[in-house]
Amino acid sequence: MSKPIPIILDGDPGHDDAIAWMLAASSPALKILAVTSSSGNQTIEKTTDNALRIMALLGIDAPMAMGATKPLISPAQPAPSVHGESGLDGTDLPERAQEPVDMPAAELMAQVIAASPDPVVLVPTGPLTNIAALLLSHPEVKDNISRISLMGGGVTHGNWVPAAEFNILLDPEAADVVYRSGIPITMAGVDVTEKAMLTPEDFARIRAVGGRVANVYADLLEFFYQFHKSLGYPGAPIHDGVAVAWLLRPELFQGVEMHVDIETGGTYSRGATIGDAYHVGSKEPNALVLFEVDRPAFADLFVEAVSHWKEG
Ligand code: RIB
Ligand code: CA
Repeated sequence: MSKPIPIILDGDPGHDDAIAWMLAASSPALKILAVTSSSGNQTIEKTTDNALRIMALLGIDAPMAMGATKPLISPAQPAPSVHGESGLDGTDLPERAQEPVDMPAAELMAQVIAASPDPVVLVPTGPLTNIAALLLSHPEVKDNISRISLMGGGVTHGNWVPAAEFNILLDPEAADVVYRSGIPITMAGVDVTEKAMLTPEDFARIRAVGGRVANVYADLLEFFYQFHKSLGYPGAPIHDGVAVAWLLRPELFQGVEMHVDIETGGTYSRGATIGDAYHVGSKEPNALVLFEVDRPAFADLFVEAVSHWKEG
């Protein structure tokens, strides 16, 4: 087998962040070099605590750093309607097994990237504040970042306002820095992530694996589904899981290389990811924008992943 891909997980757990991280932690094809928290679904304090508890549950052996307390310009805007007051409502998580290192997320990321013998893939699944801070404060490490596989945006529509998706909307300035960086991007926007659902039948398959991790994740999925069920979804869209799943099984997805600009102005359009799908502009593509997924095979990935922690 080829060497595992070194990755950094940066997110705002958040149910789908936690699900994405479980997939990453289960795979020998990935090596988690660091975990960093972002302010998004909940306050930075809550997403940091959630991140540490998920790391304890999954046994992720990596340093963790707390990220920025708020987006570069906008205020923090937690989303308790989706993820609950804790940011990971619906289950009992273990206590944290480590403390964040005594440095900002951008500094930990820079150290880890500089020390990696192989180029690193960044996997941000919340607002891109920490990634922008890294690129602005440590441009020297860009050469050792091979790709950014992110969940965010949507070329065809938004999900938090009509024109914009939550992660990009919360910090458009940070997203603009990332999309201008020249680092190849795989963009798991709502174009594909709303199709990347796990259904109640999949939740039952996961719980049937048995053991603490399987039960926690079935609980998380059932809670996460409640918000989406109220909107008429037949399942829970595992938005963040796509950013990891594409790294493992790119053949399950279909996408288009295109130039994507980030709208940082606008009354109704702030946070929009404007994709030049027909190459009418002169700018070179900066992102592989995903649009389609083999949903059954995507769901199978998570059922198989949970089995990594099957007890006995
Ligand atoms: O729009 C979906 C994104 O917003 C996901 O990353 C979810 O965790 C929330 O952060
Ligand atoms: Ca997220």
